[in-house]
Amino acid sequence: MPTKITAAITAIGGYVPETKLTNADLETMVDTNDEWIRTRTGIEERRILRGEGLGTSDLAVPVVKQICEKRGISPEEIDCIICCTVTPDMVFPATANVIADKVGAKNCWGFDLQAACSGFLYGVTTGAALIESRRYKKVIVVGADKMSSIIDYSDRQTCIIFGDGAGGILLEPNTDGFGILDSILKSDGSGRQYLHMKAGGSVRPASAETVANKEHFVYQEGQSVFKFAVKGMADVSAELLERNGMTGDDIAWLVPHQANKRIIDATASRIGLPSEKVMLNIQKYGNTTAATIPLCLWEWRTQLNKGDNIVLAAFGGGFTWGATLVKWAY
Ligand code: UT7
Repeated sequence: MPTKITAAITAIGGYVPETKLTNADLETMVDTNDEWIRTRTGIEERRILRGEGLGTSDLAVPVVKQICEKRGISPEEIDCIICCTVTPDMVFPATANVIADKVGAKNCWGFDLQAACSGFLYGVTTGAALIESRRYKKVIVVGADKMSSIIDYSDRQTCIIFGDGAGGILLEPNTDGFGILDSILKSDGSGRQYLHMKAGGSVRPASAETVANKEHFVYQEGQSVFKFAVKGMADVSAELLERNGMTGDDIAWLVPHQANKRIIDATASRIGLPSEKVMLNIQKYGNTTAATIPLCLWEWRTQLNKGDNIVLAAFGGGFTWGATLVKWAY
């Protein structure tokens, strides 16, 4: 019997742009107020990528560079880059190809993976399978989104939530049982009616009319998404623990997608975790879509200990949702 291989997380990187968009700034743009945003979402400010010609790859490149530096490897050693995003630099080629070119990852292949706010979990699960196949030894999964490029800053229901950012991890083979241990991923395409972008795809290509109708922005029926998200994220996290014979007591950290603090609180309480064990940075960055979970891991990196059991959980457009169990490797 060959030794069992798991995919361990061996390095983390994160990046947020300098420019802050605060609740006070939004008060000058739409009919909203700081108190409403804080109490309904938990958000105080978000980061915005400014600058002509800059896109999602420019958020991801510093992440990949940090990962290589921390692990002491050259970009040429990377086997594969999976870029999880809903805001690719262009419809094609894949942003993963652009990132690889910009960092000098000359020997890697890669692709973009689109599962909205659950993108990072889908990416980690896919990356882990590549490692477990024994064909690849160094897979980078980066979640990156320049949400400001698809947000209508006159729509107060959506513009208050989203921000720009990127985070990522390196996956490598491990024979001691550390790393990505289990994932439950789900999807329900009928949820697309509540959260989508109407134009710019093959059904409704860009035209003067779609631009005039503001159809290239995020369309979200917030309340409906909220209801599905609370149930979806809490249920799947509980299912993951049950399947692995664990309770909240066995878990060192919950790393939830940061869409709304109320959704996060509901998930934590469902699996019996106190707030001290829940990573929360929504107040600083808002909802950075595929980047929220790796940005949390990056911010908490010095507090993670070898052997910690960590649950990553997300819910987002699609609908897509899921939870992943990780045993921290270093
Ligand atoms: O990450 C991907 C998945 N996305 C999510 O998980 C997001 C899920 N949804 C949400 O987080 C919340 O639904 C929102 C934050 C988007 C909205 O919060 P809500 O508590 O669901 O608000 P609501 O839509 O039920 O609106 C409540 C009230 C309404 O006024 P009336 O009709 O009660 O008078 C809205 O018009 O709040 C009003 N409102 C606002 N007021 C001030 C909506 N947006 C704002 C605003 N500022 N920005």
